[in-house]
Amino acid sequence: LTSNAEYRATVEAEFSQITPENEMKWESLAPTRDSFKWTQADVLVSFAEENGMTVHGHTLVWHSQLPSWVTTLSTDEVEGAMNEHIDAVVSRYRGRIRSWDVVNEALADTGALRVSPFSAALGEEFIDKAFAAARSADPDAILFYNDYGIEHLGPKSDALFALVKRLLERGVPIQGVGFQMHIASTGNPSASSFRDNLARFAALGLHTSITEMDVRIGKSTADTKTALSNQAERYYEIIRVCRLQPKCGTITFWGVDDGHSWLDLPSMEGVFGKGPHQGLLFDTHFDPKPAYDRARDALD
Ligand code: XIL
Repeated sequence: LTSNAEYRATVEAEFSQITPENEMKWESLAPTRDSFKWTQADVLVSFAEENGMTVHGHTLVWHSQLPSWVTTLSTDEVEGAMNEHIDAVVSRYRGRIRSWDVVNEALADTGALRVSPFSAALGEEFIDKAFAAARSADPDAILFYNDYGIEHLGPKSDALFALVKRLLERGVPIQGVGFQMHIASTGNPSASSFRDNLARFAALGLHTSITEMDVRIGKSTADTKTALSNQAERYYEIIRVCRLQPKCGTITFWGVDDGHSWLDLPSMEGVFGKGPHQGLLFDTHFDPKPAYDRARDALD
């Protein structure tokens, strides 16, 4: 954003909300226990304000990208550290960040509570406490739970649905569920399964946002033109579901152009296979792809 003029111009021209890919994660903001590094996060929030954009904050409590000092806390220190972190970060940007991913990926792929320093110390109630801390630091931010693999009906989304119902019954101030949507041109979720799943969360009164969308073109035998056109239709069918669901108000893409995507990080090759995955709306030259046109069509 700060060093690539084309990237910056594309963000300014095409988007009305931004989210930090890494800059507000715990390891980025608090690499050591007693000091914060705010510079990059501040730059992002100021950029949004200068351009009349809102900011979706990502993320307060997550098992990954934690600084080592957090992973080595004793269990009786975890609650205090978590509350202090949430209070410091949310208070700093109070009134300037529209919504927060308060808890990210608390469920394992089976739907069981994921093992993390937070669940180990506090069990499921770490989620209650995290949302309470965020609410007390900013009374107006919209508070989200965010996860992957919860887009389609199935064991993980069922487990999340049950969890969210328990949270609401306990008076936890959760207001939305973020569906990451790291998907491929084929496979889960089908549009109908995503639609029915969003509907049940929306029926609880929650916002249902798409928070990290990208669509991998996959290793099909199709030529590139066909692969990009299949991807474009996939963008259309998923975004259309959101467009038709009144509680689905924002869509975030996990990057801008195919030249800067986490999908192609060497560390992700074991998960997604060898790239380039070409998952985003703009190509490596920042030219809009067929996916861009179909994403726009879906918003009509
Ligand atoms: C990813 C970033 O895109 C990478 O740059 C980083 O190396 C690892 O994290 N789910 C999330 C995001 O909630 O924070 C992750 O972002 C992608 C998966």
